[in-house]
Amino acid sequence: MSDTNETTRTPEHILVAVAWPYASGPRHLGHAAGAYVPPDIFARYHRMAGNHVLMVSGSDMHGTPIMVAADKRGVPTRELAEANHRDIAASFERLGLSYDLYTTTLTPIHYRVTQDFFLRLLERGYLFEDTQLAMYDPEAKRFLPDRYVEGTCPHCGYGDARGDQCDNCGRTLDPIDLIEPRSKLSGARPETRETTHFFLDLPQFTPALLDWVEGVGRHWRPAVMNFTLGWLHEGLKPRAITRDLDWGVPIPLPGYEDKRIYVWFDAVIGYLSASMEWAERQGEPDAWKRWWALGADGTAPGRAYYFIGKDNIPFHAIIWPAMLMGYGGFALPYDVPANEFLTLGGQKLSSSRTYTARLPFLPEALDLFDADAIRFFLTINAPENRDTDFSWDEFQRRNNDELVATYGNAVHRLLSFLQSRSGGIVPEPGELTPTDEAMLAQANAVFAAVGEQIEAVHLREALRLTMGLAGALNRYLDEAAPWKTIKTDPARAATALWTALQTVSALRVLTAPFLPFSAQRLHELLGDEGSVHELTWIMRPLPAGRALPPPAPLFRKLDDEELAALVQRLAPETPETGEPL
Ligand code: MF3
Ligand code: ZN
Repeated sequence: MSDTNETTRTPEHILVAVAWPYASGPRHLGHAAGAYVPPDIFARYHRMAGNHVLMVSGSDMHGTPIMVAADKRGVPTRELAEANHRDIAASFERLGLSYDLYTTTLTPIHYRVTQDFFLRLLERGYLFEDTQLAMYDPEAKRFLPDRYVEGTCPHCGYGDARGDQCDNCGRTLDPIDLIEPRSKLSGARPETRETTHFFLDLPQFTPALLDWVEGVGRHWRPAVMNFTLGWLHEGLKPRAITRDLDWGVPIPLPGYEDKRIYVWFDAVIGYLSASMEWAERQGEPDAWKRWWALGADGTAPGRAYYFIGKDNIPFHAIIWPAMLMGYGGFALPYDVPANEFLTLGGQKLSSSRTYTARLPFLPEALDLFDADAIRFFLTINAPENRDTDFSWDEFQRRNNDELVATYGNAVHRLLSFLQSRSGGIVPEPGELTPTDEAMLAQANAVFAAVGEQIEAVHLREALRLTMGLAGALNRYLDEAAPWKTIKTDPARAATALWTALQTVSALRVLTAPFLPFSAQRLHELLGDEGSVHELTWIMRPLPAGRALPPPAPLFRKLDDEELAALVQRLAPETPETGEPL
């Protein structure tokens, strides 16, 4: 991986598997920072580095929250899920996420593959049936997920404890132990009923999982590795993979018509079914195998990266790998670069500003700010190693001081000067000074350094290094000051301008994975046609003599009043929550 000589590498097959957002409502900036923007940067880089990337995901359509939301509005669950899916897909497109396929878990192929997984695991003895006690709402006539039961905590007496956990004392609960339980759906007192379910026999996989994690996990983020090993050492328990519901993938056996496969079991299978759907749509139905099928000797065909938030670790580092082992023949995850959370905890309220008590949803954020400004902030401030607080002051500062003042201004003052002095013609360079050489050498070297960081999924550091080159360009321009030397030494000014332009040309390539829209605009401002995203991950020379079109600023400064006014427009509303683990 430290081989940075891109031109001599054989292309690899890189599966970029992105967490499936719940179709229960719009996703917010925290979801984007944790799970959706990072894989896009990673995929865009790998395409430019010459690898074969398959980036798939879709909306996670099943689960109780979406049913409850649909009931509340009196619309069919499928209708609401599909409407929400369309909104999510539209916001992802506006954010510039470059999925090869963004689908849903409602497709025929997904149902087929899920049922096939179920039957194969059953046949191989990895599923078994068992009876358990569950809470039943006699008024809503429905079994209740743990979180839909509330009552008094048996440990601390807190009156609004949830069936899965008490928010007051933090203890994990069993809904059956709640004092005075009540249904969140109807308020009725739930009954305890016996019900039969299929269980995934996770304990059978413990030794194989341990072996696997101890090998492949060496390059994982320490938090992911520790969490996973912690679970494995604690001892895995069988997990119910069916529910008493009528919304989900049907169980492919007679006699189970009123039960469905649990949303988490089918959602992870989406990575595979979406890859198959992509291949079908390509007219090459077997193409998915290039990322999935193990060779005859059991070797993986490439590397599979799963981009998720930390709450999803058990499903991607333990349960999905166990399911894949049980099924056989498919590649296990190579890395699970889970992020921590973007939080809104420490928001300081200042009298001059109005803040909202929640993170903006993506559609709102995209109505207010450029996609690249959002992507920049979410990446330079990414919660890679710890929970990171979102603050509007920080958003403004990063936008104004870094994106606009460092990068945007360096480019704009250079291109504007060129336009006014020479009609935008790229000058012919003379002899390079050591300072010019150093500037170009740095631009060259940054490709390898940034590529290495992206490959290690250190995206925050990768963007920091990229911005470092923009900072160096600023200092170079201050020092070389072509606007002064043009009067005294035009040849020197021409060489400095040329050098700076080559660096800007490098920056449109280097920023493309992070800031896809402004990179494309800069590509066009440099007189190039086509897509910047089809370029190779190396310096791209800007030929002398080319006439550049009139420049326009790449980014927009946000002043205090404007930001306050924008933020005030965010509605004080809370998002629908997802399915518990
Ligand atoms: N819908 C889940 C969430 O948003 C993530 C599912 S990832 C998948 O937390 F792999 F299960 F699809
Ligand atoms: Zn409690």
